[in-house]
Amino acid sequence: MNCSNNKLKSITKAVVPAAGKGTRLMPLTKAVPKELMPLGKKPVLEHIIDEIAEAGITEVLFVISEEKTAIRTHFGESLNGIKFDYVFQDEQKGLADAIYCAREWVGDEPFTVVLGDSTIETNQVVSPYTRLIDAYRDTDAACVIAVEEAPLEEVSRYGIVKPMNGVAPLFQIDGLVEKPTPEAAPSRYAIAGRYAFDPSIFRYIEQTPTGAKGEYQITDSIGLMLNSGNPIWCVALGDGETRRDIGTFEAYFEAFTHEMRKHNS
Ligand code: G1P
Repeated sequence: MNCSNNKLKSITKAVVPAAGKGTRLMPLTKAVPKELMPLGKKPVLEHIIDEIAEAGITEVLFVISEEKTAIRTHFGESLNGIKFDYVFQDEQKGLADAIYCAREWVGDEPFTVVLGDSTIETNQVVSPYTRLIDAYRDTDAACVIAVEEAPLEEVSRYGIVKPMNGVAPLFQIDGLVEKPTPEAAPSRYAIAGRYAFDPSIFRYIEQTPTGAKGEYQITDSIGLMLNSGNPIWCVALGDGETRRDIGTFEAYFEAFTHEMRKHNS
């Protein structure tokens, strides 16, 4: 593959945004961050940290809020060979703003973003998150996004990508939109909570106006990056690979039940 830029390719850092209020899970999340709710025998975030550790990442920054310091109490300074740091997002102004809180910690290196409220289960030897890191290394991408196929009636919950030349396990896009109506959706491929970024993303975040839900959306920042001529690639989740969201009771119960069945089988 043609790598035209001289980007630093190896990634050792992951930013985990976990400052959201968890309003859809009240009253469970009044004092307990949703990311620390149990999923089987351990909290959701420990499943996510396992996924991150397995990919060889050694440094994690949690973006938290004053109400969610229990995450710092739980993880402390290190676990499973990963060193943890914490930064506070003062106001919940959107995912792009949460990621922007990481700019000093990230510095001038490429990094990944792993949303703290969804796990990804895989039946493959190489996880989607590791494939995403590999794709960043092996292509000219300034950003790589994990995507999954969503039912048409659910596209308005997600960021949706526009494939450039059809869809494959790894494909390039020429557009993306946050929470489109089914009529406006450019495909059914939904952003699945895992990203790899060139550090120039912070410049595009600075130029991003508020978007869907009146918040600063990282999907819009990636759009600005794309429109400036930067290649953006996607890694598609395959059959037997599932993202499990814990943001609503329905989704959380399903994820929990699934996890318990695994322990009982
Ligand atoms: C966020 C992203 C969206 C993505 C979704 C699932 O949305 O903005 O693009 O599809 O996570 O990873 P949220 O769940 O915060 O509304």
